[in-house]
Amino acid sequence: MSESPAAVPFLTAQQHILDDQKRFPGSSGEFSSLLSGITMATKMIQDKVRRAGLSDIIGEHGDTNIQGERQQKLDVYSNEVLIHFLGLRDSVGILASEENEKPMIVHQGAENANYAVVFDPLDGSSNIDVNVSVGTTFSILRRPPGVALDDSDQWVLQPGCKQIAAGYVVYGSSTILVYSTGNGVHGFTLDPSLGAYILSHPNIQMPEQGPYYSVNEAYLDSFPQPYVEYIDRLRNGALGHKYASRYIGSMVADFHRTLLKGGVFLYPPTEANPGGKLRLLYEANPIAFLAEQAGGVASNGHQRVLDIQPDSIHQRTPLIVGGRAEMADFERVVVQSDAS
Ligand code: AHG
Ligand code: MN
Ligand code: MN
Repeated sequence: MSESPAAVPFLTAQQHILDDQKRFPGSSGEFSSLLSGITMATKMIQDKVRRAGLSDIIGEHGDTNIQGERQQKLDVYSNEVLIHFLGLRDSVGILASEENEKPMIVHQGAENANYAVVFDPLDGSSNIDVNVSVGTTFSILRRPPGVALDDSDQWVLQPGCKQIAAGYVVYGSSTILVYSTGNGVHGFTLDPSLGAYILSHPNIQMPEQGPYYSVNEAYLDSFPQPYVEYIDRLRNGALGHKYASRYIGSMVADFHRTLLKGGVFLYPPTEANPGGKLRLLYEANPIAFLAEQAGGVASNGHQRVLDIQPDSIHQRTPLIVGGRAEMADFERVVVQSDAS
């Protein structure tokens, strides 16, 4: 016997966002329209990712981005698609991307365009050519009171605790959108036959303690000493069990596993990147926002990631994010050693 649609708990991301907005009396629906720009763009990106190898989309684009990194064709395509769909939304005033040096002003600074969207269009792009998971991360901020419509830097130079929503999409074995508006963390798997994101992971909670640590151990010799000690503790059972290692090299995929299965992800300071490699505004901040919403903790080794006041758009930060048990030990071994 076939199930009637009403008998199946079936909620699209679009409906979920609309329901969520009912928490805010007088909400105009602008925000749900903005998020639909992200769902539309990421469906197009995932379609290209799924065809990588068939169409002429893998490999280098030929240019270097503002980070001095070689751009892949998919970096450029993903960036253009996000700018296009978000640029169509009336509520979007500023767009800032990993791939662009400066934030873009959209809608000529219209009075009702009150949101800034900051994003990494394609995270983990070194993994594209070898069929390994990649993703998109995004952070949404509101124009701070008193800031001029065209003062784009001040729209986005806000600490992560000011994010009004954040999330990511992982283009993995399936495509999943994970987002939060500050009311829990929810995951929506793309149903390819419907072309819709369907609620598959409501109210995600990060396990208090998990089985894995995730770090690029090739750099171990150049981590500050307390990090070496902490990783050794994870490996030798000091936290109650011996941790296994997992490292994909796409932050968004490494974090997604950490969110669902538990454990800790680290990108510490290294010799090559003493201030960390990951970007604060569009990589660390959305991840930290989701982690905290799911009951986890995110630190830069000195302080809560969400409290960092940024002073430049592409600034980097160390990122250590995990469950309460792992992060309590990190606090004792690394953060306090730094303070003493
Ligand atoms: P991006 O592809 O957006 O430049 O980001 C790559 C980042 C991140 O996804 C990942 O965690 C990290 O680079 C991996 O760096 P290492 O190769 O140094 O481990
Ligand atoms: Mn990235
Ligand atoms: Mn990127």
